[in-house]
Amino acid sequence: MLDPAAHVIEKCGGPDAVAEMVGIHVSNVHRWTYPRARGGSDGRIPTRHHRALIAAAARRGITLTPDDFFHMSGADDGKGLSSPAPATYSPLPMPQDADPTRFRHRHILGIDGLTPDEIAYLLDRADGFVALSRGPRKRADLLRGRTVMNLFFEDSTRTRTSFELAGKRLGGDVINMSVATSSIQKGESLIDTALTLNAMHPDVLIVRHPHSGAVELLSQKVTCAVINGGDGSHEHPTQALLDALTIRRRKGRIGGLIVAICGDVAHSRVARSNIHLLTAMGARVRVVGPPTVVPRAIARMGVEVFHDMREGLRDCDIVMMLRLQLERMQGTYVPSLRENFHFYGLDYDKLANAKPDALIMHPGPINRGVEIDTAVADDVERSLITEQVEMGVAVRMACLEAVTANLPSADARNRS
Ligand code: NCD
Repeated sequence: MLDPAAHVIEKCGGPDAVAEMVGIHVSNVHRWTYPRARGGSDGRIPTRHHRALIAAAARRGITLTPDDFFHMSGADDGKGLSSPAPATYSPLPMPQDADPTRFRHRHILGIDGLTPDEIAYLLDRADGFVALSRGPRKRADLLRGRTVMNLFFEDSTRTRTSFELAGKRLGGDVINMSVATSSIQKGESLIDTALTLNAMHPDVLIVRHPHSGAVELLSQKVTCAVINGGDGSHEHPTQALLDALTIRRRKGRIGGLIVAICGDVAHSRVARSNIHLLTAMGARVRVVGPPTVVPRAIARMGVEVFHDMREGLRDCDIVMMLRLQLERMQGTYVPSLRENFHFYGLDYDKLANAKPDALIMHPGPINRGVEIDTAVADDVERSLITEQVEMGVAVRMACLEAVTANLPSADARNRS
């Protein structure tokens, strides 16, 4: 049986202690463990109390993590898949906990324009989906009856497959359309494609396109929700969200951290979305690289600019490496890949300037020996690269949930 409320109450020292920690009457705490038919919340603790409880528990020396709120008694708590799911197990009843008033956007086109509260809401929801994805039954029914279309005009491994998995784990129908970049003509053909797909009544379109602004243009032509899977060198909002989730889970916060984003910042949508998100959440962001790909003007985005890697990494908490986006470069931006690695590639020598517990991130695909040394990339103690991929599925589940929560229900639409 899924009973996170009983688990959390026990961990915190009983209903009275929890009532005091959250500042509510003890009868409301008891109610969390009652079935819905008896006015309870079916073993779930409403999401609005999660943060307060985690903070209050920490003050009392009790370690409570977001995963505790999705605890499954009798199952394996996500530590392994050895124990089978009990026969009475039912999918996570998360829909009631989603709060559509905290995220009202129809589309997710960029981080620019999202408030810190909206970002925190998506991250909180994603935390729950991490727990779901680590459990033995990775399904929730939040997208039942919904159709999600992946429309990728540019190559992708992580983003496309994780959106597909996210849609499927939420019980939606997912269709992949891969469009070879070479066959695309900008303008009319993009609009035509949008109108054609729109006629098939998708609920969500996930779009990746080589031209900055193309996804927003497309969103204006369709009646469904649109999520930007990366547009040119403009924005890649779900990447920044998954990076933030990875950081928050590892460091416990985002505010106050020093994050160094290193490499080809000028051509990187990942850098742009991360700068918006990290500065909005109170982190100090540095950008590090040669002047050709880290122009001084980028300081206008509220970041510090460094052309010396060792200086840029000094005392930072997170080192985020970026690939040279050769496909977006016209002309030569770096003298040679070898020289680029010598000055700006991440190796242990340069990393020694960061804090001793600094963690390494990279959105992938990584180019070993070009922007990052192989041993550093594979360092299980410090590299978060595969964890980022895991967080990518959870964050995309949260984004799909958030945009569909604001659409008319699938049943209502089918009736009309
Ligand atoms: C990034 C992208 O496509 O913008 N990759 C990704 O989505 N994980 C970064 C890149 O291509 O370098």
